Amino acid sequence: MNISRMMILTLILGLLGQLCAYAEQPYKLEAKESSYQFPFFDTPTPVWSYNGRIPGPVIHGEVGTTVVIDFLNKLKEPTSIHWHGLRIDNAMDGVPGVTQDPVGPGQNFIYRLKLEDAGTFWYHPHFNSSEQLERGLKGVFIVEEAEKQPWSRELVWLMDDWLLQKDGNIYPKFNTGRDLMHDGRWGNVPTINGLFRPEILVKPGERIRLRLINGANARVFSPHLEELSANVIAVDGRPVTQIFPLKKFVLSPGNRIDLDITIPQQAGGKTYTVEDRFTRKPFLLATLKVTQSESVKPPDFTPPTEASFIPAQMFENVQVAKTWDLNAIRGRKYGIGWTMNMKLWPDADKVDYPLGVPRKVIFKNSSSRLHPMHIHGVFFRVLERNGKKVNEQFTRDTVLVGPRESVMIGFVPEHPGIWLTHCHIQSHAEAGMMTTIGVRE
Ligand code: C2O
Ligand code: CU
Repeated sequence: MNISRMMILTLILGLLGQLCAYAEQPYKLEAKESSYQFPFFDTPTPVWSYNGRIPGPVIHGEVGTTVVIDFLNKLKEPTSIHWHGLRIDNAMDGVPGVTQDPVGPGQNFIYRLKLEDAGTFWYHPHFNSSEQLERGLKGVFIVEEAEKQPWSRELVWLMDDWLLQKDGNIYPKFNTGRDLMHDGRWGNVPTINGLFRPEILVKPGERIRLRLINGANARVFSPHLEELSANVIAVDGRPVTQIFPLKKFVLSPGNRIDLDITIPQQAGGKTYTVEDRFTRKPFLLATLKVTQSESVKPPDFTPPTEASFIPAQMFENVQVAKTWDLNAIRGRKYGIGWTMNMKLWPDADKVDYPLGVPRKVIFKNSSSRLHPMHIHGVFFRVLERNGKKVNEQFTRDTVLVGPRESVMIGFVPEHPGIWLTHCHIQSHAEAGMMTTIGVRE
């Protein structure tokens, strides 16, 4: 073989090596205008979707791997994708003006997500969010455990609600005075995975992992499973400290829970309803219909727990680093501004914390509305409510702060970058209720 041939060969081999390094296929995600057929209208409803689907596709990745998402914006306005709950590189967090530029119409953005934590997460835009989420842009992101458990079945339910007009259109006014004076935009049509009151078939004896995600703009859900007993095994994507039975669990926008449910072996032919019980008017979300088929033997195993993940004791001698007072003021863009320490985003009362040092923060709600407060890129533990110790058997990334309530949380900043912190009622966030927690190395 002569020299030049050898050179070509090494060149080709080198190229091949490079190709291999990128062999992991990027996952293609497109935001675009599409239409969606609700069962009670004659014509399809115009929506905005990921990959033409309502909700967007469930993305699966395995913990420890890097998922590459090639995102293309085919909308007529800028957007971005935020990966709610995932602790990833700050540059991939999807917040225009904080971690990236908005992705303009016709533009793309490659998100590289190194998956650190297994669990139930979700994704949604972080630009004009009160409109973009409401028009349908949202999807579930599941990070699989390295060690899979023998569930008979896994169900993923993205809970949502839509504000639909009689003519089949989405109510086109966003951030209205009504939305802003109240708890944001609550819809009139609740859906599970875009379906109105779906009936889901299960088999007698099946042990089911039910992942519930509240992807609504503003509605709080509190799912109630008739007759079935369910255990909560994970909250906001992380295994609980200790498994506990589901009673009244409040899922505010952003929150997730994973439930462990076993269908009784004698239940063939039965139906179980799943209702929302957050408001005083319960309504049907879905039904589980048990087939007449032969019953299966429920698999016997114990889901993992995380006894030592940011335990409350860790914050015992820690001073409160910050209190954010949550309230409303008159004026500005929408007539009402939602403030954190009297400031409106982007002119916010921001903080900067060093890496690895435990911090205590208080969200003090001086208003009579709901504020589900969410911090990007970190999990926290609720330590106190209204000055009284609480003992939640789990950590969170979103906590509902009720009217006049004060919630103290503890967390350890572990990822450098600037992490958005905001109310997850989209119109409240849009009207100013956002700040950042900067984490310095
Ligand atoms: Cu679902 Cu800024 O988050
Ligand atoms: Cu709020």
